[in-house]
Amino acid sequence: MRQSLKIALLTAAGVVAAMRGLLSHEQSPAHASASQERHERSGGAGRKRWLWTLAKHFALFLVVMAIGGFLVAASGVIPIKASSGHWAITRWFLQFSKGRSVATHTWGLEAPTSLDEPRLVLKGAGAYETNCRACHGNPSLRNPRVAQAMTPQPPYLPQTIPQWESGELFYIVKHGIKFTGMPAWLAQQRDDEVWAMVAFLRKFPELDAEGYRRLVSGEANLNREVAPIQGLLGPETMPRAITVSCARCHGMDGLGRGIGAFPKLAGQSPAYLYASLQAFARKERHSGVMEPNAVGLNDEEMRELALYYSSLPKLPPSTPSPESSLAIERGAAIAQQGIPTQRVPSCVACHGPGDIPRNPVYPELAGQYSDYLALQLELFKQLQRGGTAYTHLMHSVAAHLTPEQMRDVALYYESLTSARERPAQ
Ligand code: HEC
Ligand code: HEC
Ligand code: HEC
Repeated sequence: MRQSLKIALLTAAGVVAAMRGLLSHEQSPAHASASQERHERSGGAGRKRWLWTLAKHFALFLVVMAIGGFLVAASGVIPIKASSGHWAITRWFLQFSKGRSVATHTWGLEAPTSLDEPRLVLKGAGAYETNCRACHGNPSLRNPRVAQAMTPQPPYLPQTIPQWESGELFYIVKHGIKFTGMPAWLAQQRDDEVWAMVAFLRKFPELDAEGYRRLVSGEANLNREVAPIQGLLGPETMPRAITVSCARCHGMDGLGRGIGAFPKLAGQSPAYLYASLQAFARKERHSGVMEPNAVGLNDEEMRELALYYSSLPKLPPSTPSPESSLAIERGAAIAQQGIPTQRVPSCVACHGPGDIPRNPVYPELAGQYSDYLALQLELFKQLQRGGTAYTHLMHSVAAHLTPEQMRDVALYYESLTSARERPAQ
């Protein structure tokens, strides 16, 4: 209190001094006679002087307004309490400026891919449940209780989404909105994830409660009694985090829900799974979808989850379509021999297939979704993917691959049967 009084007094003294200075400057006889002389010399000088005086008074007005505003803020009379909401006019003004700002900043911004792709919608839905539902609700609970007490209140998005272009939604979700509680996307490097969220938002208004549940959790029977998977591990041995979160996206069976939105974890090397969880939690591997699920885990839980998922069986890959068989052949050549003219090394020494002993932190690629593999190669190339202590090895591998070559080699690895499924010899 004493401090704001001091600030207010000091500022007031400053204003008085500044005003006195300006006014006395205006009335100074020397200044007056000099301008008189100039006036006599040129006929248009009168108008100029008039303009100059106007500008000076306007500047003075602005200074007084700014200082007045500061004094009001310093006095502490402006309420910042969320409990009283906004006046209607404040609300209108904030909505108006938000709309204008978003429109101006997204002029000509278009989605780089089709937003109808089920893979994108599924990934966005999974992330919505983790990152957004607590504020924006879902069809079964449109206005979560805590969010109702915010100013401004987070809207129930299916009602407001149709008014926004996709580029505008992208901008809002990526950057958030200042002074409202609307956060920015956690991984600013990952525009691909923000577009996945926009793909989901576009579908959101069509969903009823059951449609939402199916999209977000699939068959995962979250927080309910879990049936043992293929008689392998019963719910009593399954780490708790799986039913609380992981299964929603990666599936109870660790097979990533079928369409390449989420990677398969089943049968992956446990050392790699553990190192990846650590990398997400430390923000060394960037993903606004996955990071929030890793940060809450302690070291023991990470080890347990890594062991659990690595112990699950991978399913044999589905038969590749005839159209992709040529691509798979080209991919096989890249994996086996590399592309010497582009300084791309072969992949097999680090990723198999083959019986060469490998560092257990190098991930298994066999049977993984090609969409996921190709996306990771693109991220390595853009230097946007961190991970284990060996990530740098991949930065130079991916640097010279073209998007077509990434696609081919990804399709090749997807078509392979992983070592763990091969019958024991
Ligand atoms: C902590 C609460 C909070 C979280 C979490 C949150 N938001 Fe928001 N969001 C808000 C608030 C508050 C607004 C309203 C801002 C306003 O009125 O200007 C908002 C506004 C929006 C808008 C603009 C809607 C409109 O019509 O004005 C979109 C789109 C949006 N959020 C999407 C998301 C998405 C997607 C996520 C998750 C990645 C998310 N939000 C997470 C609080 C939140
Ligand atoms: C909201 C969906 C979602 C949830 C929930 C989720 N994940 Fe993920 N996870 C992802 C996505 C998406 C990726 C790929 C991230 C990327 O693009 O780098 C991923 C990647 C991973 C990876 C790296 C796989 C690889 O091949 O590099 C591991 C390990 C992982 N998740 C484990 C977990 C565990 C354990 C849990 C539960 C504690 C969990 N995830 C919960 C979506 C999710
Ligand atoms: C010198 C060893 C080495 C070579 C050669 C190599 N990789 Fe890798 N690769 C790695 C390592 C290590 C990682 C784990 C990166 C991390 O997360 O830190 C990795 C990760 C990957 C991933 C991500 C997997 C996932 O689950 O997220 C893909 C995709 C990949 N490599 C593809 C390739 C392809 C294609 C080639 C050949 C053109 C190749 N790699 C050659 C070492 C190598």
